[in-house]
Amino acid sequence: MSKVAALSKPTILLHWTVAILFIGVFAMGIYVADFAEPPAKFTYMGWHKSMGLVVLVFAIARLIWRIKEGALPATSDMPKWQTVIAHLTHGLLLLATLAMPLSGFIMSYAGGRAISFFEFELLSAPEKTPWLADAGSFVHHSSVLIIVVILALHVAAALKHQFVDKDGMLSRMLGKS
Ligand code: HEM
Ligand code: HEM
Repeated sequence: MSKVAALSKPTILLHWTVAILFIGVFAMGIYVADFAEPPAKFTYMGWHKSMGLVVLVFAIARLIWRIKEGALPATSDMPKWQTVIAHLTHGLLLLATLAMPLSGFIMSYAGGRAISFFEFELLSAPEKTPWLADAGSFVHHSSVLIIVVILALHVAAALKHQFVDKDGMLSRMLGKS
């Protein structure tokens, strides 16, 4: 393949673990909120919340790794504006993987609901704090469209680099550089 700097194993593993889980939890959230009917809706919502917490754990690990390792080396000589957009997109995606589970957690917990990991109760139901629940709900819902747009841009850029520019960007994230 191309002569680009290889990515570390943790970068690759964390990217695909978070990517697959995030897309799954995201799709599940839309299905549960907009299409599922009770009583199955409550079971699926429990899975959505539990898997959302799993995303949070991996996203924190990834953030720590990214800070330790620094930004990814470029695969080719990109114009400055493309580098800026790539860094901005990656930053926003990292933020989304933290902000979505955190806002979901805040919306539920401040809304007076217990926090469980599948059958296991982590935090019992507290008093409601309506303003905080509203803030969490605002972030959780208003981010949806923004995330769809950024993700579409991210995947399109990866495909363009791989198949049009042929700089091996996607292969590199698949560990094949
Ligand atoms: C099918 C879906 C996806 C594909 C094909 C894909 C592809 C890629 C590729 C090729 C890179 C390397 C870019 C470079 O070398 O500069 C990358 C980096 C990155 N991707 Fe994705 N990605 C996908 C989904 C996601 C998702 C769902 C997220 C987060 C919500 C995400 C977040 C990131 C971030 C933050 C980086 C920067 C590098 C890092 O911190 O690991 N990606 N992606
Ligand atoms: C990666 C993590 C997460 C992602 C990507 C995500 C994404 C979503 C999405 C896309 C929706 C549908 C919103 C809409 O249709 O406007 C949703 C709904 C919801 N999410 Fe999450 N979520 C995550 C984590 C969590 C967590 C950790 C909790 C709580 C502990 C949670 C609680 C909820 C609730 C209660 C709803 C339903 C809101 C309603 O009925 O309108 N989410 N989520």
